[in-house]
Amino acid sequence: GEKWVRMVTAQTPTNIAVIKYWGKRDENLILPVNDSISVTLDPAHLCTTTTVAVSPSFDQDRMWLNGKEVSLAGARYQNCLREIRARACDVEDEEKGVKIAKKDWENLHVHIASYNNFPTAAGLASSAAGFACLVFSLAKLMNAKEDNSDLSAIARQGSGSACRSLFGGFVKWIMGEAKDGRDSRAVQLVDEKHWDELVIIIAVVSSRQKETSSTSGMQDSVNTSLLLEHRAKEIVPKRIVRMEEALKTKDFGSFTELTCADSNQFHATCLDTSPPIFYMNDTSHRLISCVEKWNRSEATPQVAYTFDAGPNAVLIARNRKAAAQLMQKLLFYFPPNSDADLDNYVIGDKSILK
Ligand code: PMV
Repeated sequence: GEKWVRMVTAQTPTNIAVIKYWGKRDENLILPVNDSISVTLDPAHLCTTTTVAVSPSFDQDRMWLNGKEVSLAGARYQNCLREIRARACDVEDEEKGVKIAKKDWENLHVHIASYNNFPTAAGLASSAAGFACLVFSLAKLMNAKEDNSDLSAIARQGSGSACRSLFGGFVKWIMGEAKDGRDSRAVQLVDEKHWDELVIIIAVVSSRQKETSSTSGMQDSVNTSLLLEHRAKEIVPKRIVRMEEALKTKDFGSFTELTCADSNQFHATCLDTSPPIFYMNDTSHRLISCVEKWNRSEATPQVAYTFDAGPNAVLIARNRKAAAQLMQKLLFYFPPNSDADLDNYVIGDKSILK
């Protein structure tokens, strides 16, 4: 039989929302109840690397995550694979002697090997980088002609937040209106060079896996929280406008006010859910109090905080000086165990301490 293999490797960083996505209006297509805005992290610290391969000798689609085989049977994987396969095109790689016709893709199988360069169990948004990288690498493997925004609408069907990882810098996920979800996709607001004074530090408050998955948490919130509807309809649309303006003008004061308020309202919505969801813990709350106190003691805010579906803090410092102060004066005293190693506790560029 034929012996060739065609392989593509891609690397995708994760992203952290500064205006949060919380709640779906369509569970299967993963369509949100509001727009969201995120920042894509530096791939050196938190990213997924995925290699996809196709060969006539593969008899089924298979996937390995951090070296361990995982099932591709779930609807989210199947939706992504089906959508990309439907867009596959002719491939001609003369150097390797590989020639695949568009119609061949229906009968060819892929092998997928994916690695996270950060602890998957730490409850840090790993699905965002994972699905973005999977969809992007499959699209390249199959020579799909779609641009990153088109691909984001496919990655969205793997994990909502994944659609925002197809771009660097600050990214908006537009909720869209279409029933089939074709206009629910990501666009880049500003690229990674636009506001490169910012320093993002992640403090791993707890490495335990979250107790309530974002999927079931959102479902419960949509069904029971009165705050959620108000937030989605009245609050977030206004914050999106103000956040876009803050990003364009690099207004750190406004950026911090919006980021912190939106994180707190997301967690308030979780508390307003029945049964209530607690993602932050005492250490998270103490960190918030300290950052708030520090920001108020300065003429202008120095650090923004935001928390996702877990207790780990994402801290965004206005510049390297503020980041160094944050580490030396605040985070140094926070590790959950007295003997915890600061290197494991803080993810980010530790060279600012030198
Ligand atoms: O895409 P999911 O199902 O991992 O949900 C992400 C939800 C939050 O991280 C809490 C907010 C967001 O916008 O990323």
